[in-house]
Amino acid sequence: MEGYGDTRKEHQKYLKPLGDWRRTHDCGSLTAENVGSEVCLMGWAQFRRDHGGVIFIDLRDREGMTQVVFSPEVDEQVHAEAHCLRTEYVLAIKGRVRPRPEGMVNPNMATGAIEVAVTEWKLLNTANTPPFMIEDRVDVSENLRLQYRYLDLRRPRLAKNFVVRNRAAQAARRYLDGLGFLEVETPYLTKSTPEGARDFLVPSRVNQGMFYALPQSPQLFKQMLMVAGMDRYFQIVRCFRDEDLRADRQPEFTQIDCEMSFVDQEQVMTMAEGLVARIFKEVLDLDLTLPMARMTFAEAMASYGVDKPDLRFGLKLKDVSAVVRESEFRVFAKAELVKALRVPGGGSLTRKEIDDLTEFVKIYGAQGLAWIKVKDDGSWQSPFAKFLSESERAGLAETLAMEVGDIVFFQAGPAEMVNAALGNLRVKLGEMLGLIDEDAYNFVWITDFPLFEYDQEEKRHVARHHPFTSPQDGHLELMRAAPEKALAKAYDMVLNGNEVGGGSVRIHTKEVQDAMFAALNIGEEEAREKFGFLLDALEYGAPPHGGIAFGFDRLVMLLCKAKSIRDVIAFPKTQKATCLTTQAPNVVSARQLRELAIRVRETAKPQTAGPASDQAADQAAGQAADRADGQADGGDGA
Ligand code: AMO
Ligand code: AMP
Repeated sequence: MEGYGDTRKEHQKYLKPLGDWRRTHDCGSLTAENVGSEVCLMGWAQFRRDHGGVIFIDLRDREGMTQVVFSPEVDEQVHAEAHCLRTEYVLAIKGRVRPRPEGMVNPNMATGAIEVAVTEWKLLNTANTPPFMIEDRVDVSENLRLQYRYLDLRRPRLAKNFVVRNRAAQAARRYLDGLGFLEVETPYLTKSTPEGARDFLVPSRVNQGMFYALPQSPQLFKQMLMVAGMDRYFQIVRCFRDEDLRADRQPEFTQIDCEMSFVDQEQVMTMAEGLVARIFKEVLDLDLTLPMARMTFAEAMASYGVDKPDLRFGLKLKDVSAVVRESEFRVFAKAELVKALRVPGGGSLTRKEIDDLTEFVKIYGAQGLAWIKVKDDGSWQSPFAKFLSESERAGLAETLAMEVGDIVFFQAGPAEMVNAALGNLRVKLGEMLGLIDEDAYNFVWITDFPLFEYDQEEKRHVARHHPFTSPQDGHLELMRAAPEKALAKAYDMVLNGNEVGGGSVRIHTKEVQDAMFAALNIGEEEAREKFGFLLDALEYGAPPHGGIAFGFDRLVMLLCKAKSIRDVIAFPKTQKATCLTTQAPNVVSARQLRELAIRVRETAKPQTAGPASDQAADQAAGQAADRADGQADGGDGA
């Protein structure tokens, strides 16, 4: 993007070296208490206004903005030269702090009580016209902002997120260091292991035809560090997962990863609560109530339809299968599960709104959305109630405690779909009807996860967390006899409907590990081939151990009240996994490929030069991914 062009070149002649000038303050710190001081500030020109022969500049740096004034009364030449100043020029000023004139005080600005009367200044650099204004309310596409991310990051609101991010990271480090955790780095070039999300692969030049994988998490390494006697490990670490993206997922993201020896579930959870409480205290000066609430996975699914319930508002799902099992309404009669969501006051939803909600649940595989409104006279308005018998109507009214003004939504079908559809509808309604207290931080632990889930495609049980997760005490026999009933020593921390952390106690004996592989239908040879190095380690005196990993980006997003984790990552990927700032991924030279002994298939050769030229497709893909918001995280699969 070109701006100013010739003007900018013309202005080069005014440039001065920094010399021995040093800042006395940043641009966010001067207040009425500094009136009378001589100061030196440096930063970017946000905005120039010429008023009655006086030039005003808002000088901006990371910390804030200060109004500086070039007036001919203070210095004739200083004022004359200031006419060259343009948006985003870089300058240094020296001057005296003075109160703003009566009526010009800006109470919305930290430095709004003062201004600096410039006595001397230097132009340090010129700048092209930025492609968008550097201010909080910019109305430009995110793609343009990501392309010029270094300008985007100058915007105060975004810059502030990184101050928060840093504070949270430092608070975590102090807390964990205080508890005797060692920060240990683990490899990024590692072995591809199955059972998780898709790996990012890196071809090896030295070992042609072979590949490293970027770690989905340091899971296996941290377990080996426990075998190594490190006792307590942590790492603020990048993880890589090649999965479909959405607002709270990135292909590379950061975890606060922890592991502890000689502990059971309770100690890990207590440590984790303390860590989050410390972060909230240091960043927001907020005292969290500990211990945090807990809910079993079964209860979360039954009442909220999801394993990360947003408890800032009510609206619980209710199983009404028993009431309508014999119904003439065939949608209900033949269903595995029928659930209802009663929404007090929801009777005011319009037909159009209900139609939109019906479209919304289709994302989760629903074919329709049945509903009943209770009218002022107590009668029902409903497209399907005519198929219900007297006793079914009475049964529903009683089970659901239906009242005048309600709307009740119903979903019938396979349990997984019914829960996903109504669980997400619940959150959507919470937002639509303004039921959510945006200032609340509602934490809940989800516990007692099933050890396995059934993979319909592979027709076998797979580990819900990863295959090294310990069964609960006494559940070893269940793993063989009734795997669907076996529970894990696993726990997720949920904040306002977001999974911000998850962990488990690990298997540390060979006997249990063998039982696990047997349940997963993984033979000895296959297990050795896939995880041999960990299995070996477990046979050399592994201590009981367990841990947790926090999604650091998600945590910071919630601390900042940002809408997307992209707003708390300096150089995030788009939803098509591209980096618009650097134009990655890109095509590499034939020579690089030759060294790696790799040939790219004709059909895979990109039609365009780089990802940036594909922005429309990118946006479309992003929206599609956001719509597919029903899926769980890919999981690190160890
Ligand atoms: P898990 O896979 O649950 O556990 O990941 C831990 C936390 O990381 C965050 N997270 C993500 N954040 C952004 N983008 C993503 N693509 C993404 N995927 C996950 C979530 C999640 O709670 N090794 C285990 C932890 C353990 O057992 O100790 C693990 O990685 O907030
Ligand atoms: P139909 O008989 O298919 O026209 O459906 C009658 C009503 O039930 C319509 O309001 C549909 O939106 C709704 N509906 C259809 N399938 C389901 C389902 N699986 N669960 C709940 N409601 C449904």
